[in-house]
Amino acid sequence: MAATSRANQESDVEYAGKAAGPCVLVLFGAAGDLTKRKLIPALFNLVRAKLLPESLAVMGVSVDDLSVEDFRNQVSEFLPAAAGGTEDLQWFRQRLFYERGDFADPNTFSKLQERLGKLDLEYHSEGNYLFYMATAPRFFGQIVQQLGKAGLAVQDKRCWRRVVIEKPFGHDLESAKALNREIKSVLQENQIYRIDHYLGKETVQNIMVFRFDNAIFEPIWNRRYIDHVQITNAETVGVERRGGYFDTAGTLRDMVPNHVMQLLTLTAMESPVSFQADAVRNEQAKVLHSLLHLNSEDVLQRSVRGQYGEGMLGGERVPGYRSESGVAPESRTETFVAMKLNIDNWRWAGVPFYLRTGKRLAQRHTEIAIQFKRMPFELFRNAPFHKLHTNTLVIQIQPVEGISLSFGAKIPGPLLRVGSVDMSFEYSKYFGADAYTGYEVLLYDCMIGDATLFQRADMVEAGWSVVDPVLDVWRALPPRKFPNYASGTWGPAEADQLMELDDRQWRKIEP
Ligand code: BG6
Repeated sequence: MAATSRANQESDVEYAGKAAGPCVLVLFGAAGDLTKRKLIPALFNLVRAKLLPESLAVMGVSVDDLSVEDFRNQVSEFLPAAAGGTEDLQWFRQRLFYERGDFADPNTFSKLQERLGKLDLEYHSEGNYLFYMATAPRFFGQIVQQLGKAGLAVQDKRCWRRVVIEKPFGHDLESAKALNREIKSVLQENQIYRIDHYLGKETVQNIMVFRFDNAIFEPIWNRRYIDHVQITNAETVGVERRGGYFDTAGTLRDMVPNHVMQLLTLTAMESPVSFQADAVRNEQAKVLHSLLHLNSEDVLQRSVRGQYGEGMLGGERVPGYRSESGVAPESRTETFVAMKLNIDNWRWAGVPFYLRTGKRLAQRHTEIAIQFKRMPFELFRNAPFHKLHTNTLVIQIQPVEGISLSFGAKIPGPLLRVGSVDMSFEYSKYFGADAYTGYEVLLYDCMIGDATLFQRADMVEAGWSVVDPVLDVWRALPPRKFPNYASGTWGPAEADQLMELDDRQWRKIEP
């Protein structure tokens, strides 16, 4: 986010286009999936973009018994074949180090401290350390405590120390608060970077540019003109190899207080007074605090849960959730959620926000649809409609990234017929294909101390406080007929009924 941004006042920020300042990046969970799939490719993209400092070192830490050479070889395997033999790869490999260690063992951290001291001398990293928790969530608090005890979390005028915490941040409001307390007993808030990879997505960041860098949308971005908003986050994948984790979490925890709330707050927030981290985050936090909390009755009427059964996807038969590995055969965990939320403020009073997110749905598709009100006077009401239209502005997040606006147009011909047409912009057609993982901007921002795209403690807790009442009611009333949607469909019938009750319907997502 650094192109035009400054970070929070506590740290000095450089501007985009410049390599980040000296530091050592310590990757806890260096042999894990996130490191392989996202962090290493993202770091390498930053190498190629010349955004990493000459004085960078990367120290991997995990329980796997690897030599430095093994780690370097593994890293090369995580990169696209085209990276092989390049100067960039040579540069990157030379800066990779590895330390085997158990996170519960204080020795791991004393050894780490020693290694980091040596790297400081060799790589001139000036004692600046970025600790990245790419581990299972149960280690987050423990690692921070160990960093504290080893004296690795103390920053002063000469050097900074920052910690990136992955999601899930807690599993409900109480545990999120407990984790915040635990890490804040060691770290200042400005040292904590709670990551949500949705904020690394170009189109998600573009919501702010679209809204606040164009004069024409903001005046109509409110309850006078908008009928409702639909946020859809549909995945075709099942739980893949994460059945064990997912079965204890479920879609509500996994997607709603974090990713879906990011989309909602960026859509609904007021314009920040500046692009400073706290100015932006204050506005997002205000939206979270304005969301009307659901009471038990509301939960029954305004939320829907589902679990996928077997079905056909992409021409293949796929198994039901309960047959996935790591999942209990009688599991009651939801893989689909739909909800209706209301934001209780001047801009949005009376405008429902409908959310739906689920796995094994008919298509991979994430979008925010702003549905405008019908016109107050229908001049052409007697003309035959090719397709009934209302104006809809759709911000497409993935897989296609773009924005489209549908509006009515006269169908050519001697008769007056009206149809709905689209004006659309696609990122890739305009700017070319995007090879980024989304983690590049997030890693770079941590290195330059720009926290705009990271969650503050209050935001994480406010997100959980929206879903907590739903978790409580769902726990008390287990679902009676899971699985309730077939893989390859758009979720359970109850999700459609949620809309029908309001005389609305979910947008049909065209293939
Ligand atoms: C993760 C969730 O945070 O986000 C996964 O734990 C989910 O369950 C994933 O599949 C979705 O991310 P993306 O970027 O593929 O939309």
